[in-house]
Order: sequence, then structure tokens, then C-alpha cells
Amino acid sequence: MTAQLIDGKLIAQQVRDEVAAMVAKRTAAGKRKPTLATVLVGDRPDSAAYVASKGKACQELGMGSISEHLPANASQEEVDALVKRLNADKGVSGILVQLPMPSHLDEERVLSLINIEKDVDGFSPLNIGRLAQKGREPLFVPCTPFGCIYLLEKSGVKIEGANAVVLGRSNIVGMPAALLLIGKNATVTVCHSRTKDLPGTVRQADIIIAAIGRTEMVRGDWIKPGAAVIDVGINAVPDATKKSGQRLVGDVNFAEAKEVAGFITPVPGGVGPMTIAMLMKNTLRAAEIQEP
Ligand SMILES: NC(=O)c1ccc[n+]([C@@H]2O[C@H](COP(=O)([O-])OP(=O)(O)OC[C@H]3O[C@@H](n4cnc5c(N)ncnc54)[C@H](OP(=O)(O)O)[C@@H]3O)[C@@H](O)[C@H]2O)c1
Repeated sequence: MTAQLIDGKLIAQQVRDEVAAMVAKRTAAGKRKPTLATVLVGDRPDSAAYVASKGKACQELGMGSISEHLPANASQEEVDALVKRLNADKGVSGILVQLPMPSHLDEERVLSLINIEKDVDGFSPLNIGRLAQKGREPLFVPCTPFGCIYLLEKSGVKIEGANAVVLGRSNIVGMPAALLLIGKNATVTVCHSRTKDLPGTVRQADIIIAAIGRTEMVRGDWIKPGAAVIDVGINAVPDATKKSGQRLVGDVNFAEAKEVAGFITPVPGGVGPMTIAMLMKNTLRAAEIQEP
């Protein structure tokens, strides 16, 4: 292996420790406990598990958590009213609406209702708009791309002036990751399902952020020697040696890529743990904005 492994688990734990220390300091000073409210509509087991792990993280870091759950047939008016109530509640620092919501609901409308000072997921059009504008700062950066950039910076990867290729253009990962890299003065190419020469484009990259949800699609010979590879993908593949019958792999063929790259994140244990750590960081920031 030539690449330096970027240990997301370790770096996420450092972020969590820093957040916990700040939370303890604020509460000792008599300030309100930073508190995250999650909104879950429906009964998707994966969404329920994500919401539960966010609540658990809050407790571990000394933060408050409120978990709101509406039935799958909740009306737009009920969801809107809940978000408005949480907006008005001074005991709530951040609001996270778990996506996807049932298809009869207008997600964009719900996200746009979240008070910008409580938008800890960073998905409101106002925060994304600010991220996209030169010289403007969003109040919150979406957690997974925030984690990707944090991993690069913590590992000493130079972003300014680098050629970066982002694979994927989703609202939650690819696009905000590309905007963040531009903001940090990288030259960025965004690839998607209609990109013609994916391997040739990736070969130009000093930094690769892969977020396409395609099992081990990025091969070792796509990678420029020494490049930094951030693998966001989470894909389950069958594995008879595991109790669950499956294991998780990324969008990058790790075995090949680690022999060529300069830096690489593993899956699991790379970007995954960073997402919740950055959500906790954003929730603390929300509390700081609302009660300096
Ligand atoms: N670690 C974490 O915490 C975390 C968080 C979020 C997501 N993820 C993982 O990250 C991956 C991406 O998630 P997402 O929500 O961004 O996915 P998504 O919404 O499905 O977007 C996938 C993107 O990849 C592009 N794409 C798909 N197949 C492609 C191909 N063969 N060649 C080139 N581009 C292709 C799509 O292009 P088009 O736009 O043209 O359709 C789209 O822009 C998934 O594996 C997901 O599980 C991980």
C-alpha cells in the first residue's frame, strides 16, 4: 500500500470530543443545551435507524435531542406546522428533516420552511444559495460534503490550485462538495451519468470525491499517482463470511486505488462517521448563533 489511510473514525471522534467540550463549557456557563430536533415522517427502517443514531450522538455529546415522528400519511399541512412549531421553539437549536419523505409531500417546501439559523443539514435554498455565491458564507454546510473537506484539510491535502473531480451531482453530496472545493480555490470538474470519458477525466484529478453509489466503479488505473481519494459511496455486496451475509464497499476499488493514491478513505470508517460528527458540529454552531 502506498496511500496514506485517512482514518475517518479517528478524525470524527476528535470532532465529537471538541464539540462535547464546547457543549460542557456552554452549559456550565448557564446557556441552553444545544438541542437537535429530528423530524421523521413514515416508517422507513433505514430512516428510523439514521434518526436514532443522530439522537444517540446528541446524548453522547451532552446535547439535547427531540425526536418528532409523524405517520406516513401525514398531510403537508401537518408537516409544515411541525416545522413552524420547532422554528419557534427556543429550546430547539437545530432542525433535521429526515429525507426522503413520503412522495406525496413537497420536500423542497418543507426544507425551505426551516429557519436558516436552525438549518443544521444545510439544505435550505438560502444556505445552498449562499454556498454557491462568491464571497458569501452559508450559515451551515451540508454534513457529508463538510466531512469530506474536513478530512482533506486534516490530512494536509492542499486544495487551493488542485484539480478536483467530483463524481456525482446530487443535492446532498456531489453538488455541495463541488461548491465547497470551488470556494477553497480548487479547479473543479463535476461528473455524472452522462459524462463521456469518466476514466480520462478522473485521471486529471489531484483530488477525487466519489459519490455515485456504484460499487467499486472507480478503478486503480483511473487514479493519478499521489491523488487524494475521498470515497463517499456506501454499497452493500454479498459476503458469505459475514453474519449479515453482506459487507459494505465504496464507489472506489480500494484494493487497487490504495496502491496508486497518495491518500485514501476506507469504506467503512472513512466519510461515514464524519457525517454525524459534522451534524453535531453544526448543531453546536446553531446554538452559538442563537445564543452567542
Ligand atoms: N457516507 C455518508 O455519510 C453518505 C451520505 C450520503 C450518501 N452516501 C452514499 O454516497 C453515494 C451517493 O449518494 P447520493 O445521495 O449523492 O446519490 P444519488 O442522489 O443517487 O446521486 C448519484 C449521482 O451519481 C451519478 N451517477 C450515477 N451513476 C453514475 C455513473 N455510472 N457514472 C457517472 N455518474 C453516475 C448520478 O448522475 P445523474 O445526476 O446524471 O443521475 C448522480 O449525480 C451513495 O452510495 C450513498 O449511499 C454516503
